Amino acid sequence: LLSISDLSPAEFTRLVVNASSHKKAVKDAFAAGQVPPKPLQGAMTGKTVAMMFSKRSTRTRVSTEAAVQLMGGHPMFLGKDDIQLGVNESLYDTSVVISSMTSCMVARVGPHSDVANLAAHSSVPVINALSSDFHPLQTIADFQTIHETFSSTPTESSLGLEGRKVAWVGDSNNVLFDLAIGCVKMGVDIAVASPAGYGIPDEMRKVILAAGEGVAKPGKLSETTVPEEAIEGADILVTDTWVSMGQEVEAQKRLKAFAGYQITNELAKRGRAKPDWKFMHCLPRHPEEVDDEVFYGPRSLVFPEAENRLWAAVSALEAFVVNKGKIL
Ligand code: CP
Ligand code: NVA
Repeated sequence: LLSISDLSPAEFTRLVVNASSHKKAVKDAFAAGQVPPKPLQGAMTGKTVAMMFSKRSTRTRVSTEAAVQLMGGHPMFLGKDDIQLGVNESLYDTSVVISSMTSCMVARVGPHSDVANLAAHSSVPVINALSSDFHPLQTIADFQTIHETFSSTPTESSLGLEGRKVAWVGDSNNVLFDLAIGCVKMGVDIAVASPAGYGIPDEMRKVILAAGEGVAKPGKLSETTVPEEAIEGADILVTDTWVSMGQEVEAQKRLKAFAGYQITNELAKRGRAKPDWKFMHCLPRHPEEVDDEVFYGPRSLVFPEAENRLWAAVSALEAFVVNKGKIL
């Protein structure tokens, strides 16, 4: 699972629906003092998941470790100072060796080509835990959150969210790209407002639009430099940090370029978002991209969204490791 573009609309729908139903079943069981119910109970017994993280992480690390543990497997966290990768050893050698000893690799990398190379040479499933281009586990959790918030009724190949609109205001980055692919596949319109020079790269736009091939009514992608234009009629306002990991040297330049893009209630009002608009953010969050009033306010979905990372991880591991890529 390197990107949401690897999934058909039906597969994506199933991953999200499974995440939501496992959430309910496990929480009910825990509330009753019971162990996780089948089919999750013991589903990963005897399986080790290698978590190769070259960057910091709170949510992705904790959700993956907790998900593997919940299903009875062993998560093995390998930070960048723990293994030979990148210093003494190539991606090829690392991939062949680690995949010969484990059941799955979950990798957080810099360039997307690193996780693609790991996957190309691995004998076990590889899950992208964030690369320069994509963050599929985040997108599964985000659509789970949207599905649960709007109580949508899924069909076999769609979450029943057609006609909804997402407004992304901020940097065009890895989190946006997979979210946009998910939107196109699910018939959700997505409008992106980024400052000039920080928009969607041409190659990535092609990938996002290609996600609509074969979809009866794909979501529309629109792009602007004007936040208010993107926000008009939106059900959900989304943003992410203006300075992603690895871009720290550009921080001052970026903070200047993004001035005026902070999400606030005033901006949402000026842009005429839907009256009951909601706010989402993958976290970690900095106050420059969204103020406290919105971030901690009643429209904010950020904490359920973060919790859903656990259920997204459970769903993805079940599909790719337990069921060997069959998304049931
Ligand atoms: N949203 C997300 O991936 O957070 P972490 O960087 O903490 O894993
Ligand atoms: N765009 C951010 C997301 C972190 C979860 C980054 O790549 O740092």
